[in-house]
Amino acid sequence: MLKHEKNGLFISIEGPDGAGKTTQARLLKTRLENLGVEVFLTREPGGTPVGEEIRKLLLNPEYSEMTVACEVLLYSAARAQLVRQLINPSLKKGRVVISDRYLDSNIVYQGFGGGESPEIIEKINLWAAGGLMPEITFLLDLDAQTGLKRLQEGDKSGKWQGDRVEQKGLDYHCRVRQGYLELAGRSSGRIVIIEAGGNSDAVHEKIWQLTEPLLRKKNLL
Ligand code: TMP
Repeated sequence: MLKHEKNGLFISIEGPDGAGKTTQARLLKTRLENLGVEVFLTREPGGTPVGEEIRKLLLNPEYSEMTVACEVLLYSAARAQLVRQLINPSLKKGRVVISDRYLDSNIVYQGFGGGESPEIIEKINLWAAGGLMPEITFLLDLDAQTGLKRLQEGDKSGKWQGDRVEQKGLDYHCRVRQGYLELAGRSSGRIVIIEAGGNSDAVHEKIWQLTEPLLRKKNLL
């Protein structure tokens, strides 16, 4: 188990594809920086040079044969690197860390979506992440169909094909959404469900209402 730094604040943003996590992560970062708070924004899979290479492998549509077990280990490998190389040192410096996805994605996509045991995936991930959990996780909730439609409409080429995960079909993405809701139900308050169907400013305000008191409590604001 790693020694965890509790000086900063660790926030993760989760949700099905197309729920708007990346937009929300950026909006939160900008708001915090405008208030003089130091922020480290990262994403999963990726975030480090090693992790970004693993991301290319994971999302490459050519590898349709990749097994779910292989996915679990590759996503966890990228996460192990990110926690040790960047997240923990940033928390030590008292920064707010915002991660666009974290280990809940692994439990939900490879467990509920892919059919491997969510309990085993959780154990592998806790080991890989050295036990580091976010203090709060915003789950942007959106039905799978709307999420995939948003991705298609957002693609300027008009020939949207999606990455290897996005291509997995509606059933898979419905199981992912259900998995998130089930995980939130048993997360003892860490995961907060935010309805993500509205406009991005309204969603941001809801996230801000919950983030601000946490920052004040930790004297980061
Ligand atoms: P992104 O689209 O949010 O950048 O994430 C890339 C894809 O990877 C997304 O479809 C979800 C998937 N994913 C998993 O299946 N398991 C994981 O552990 C993570 C972090 C992402």
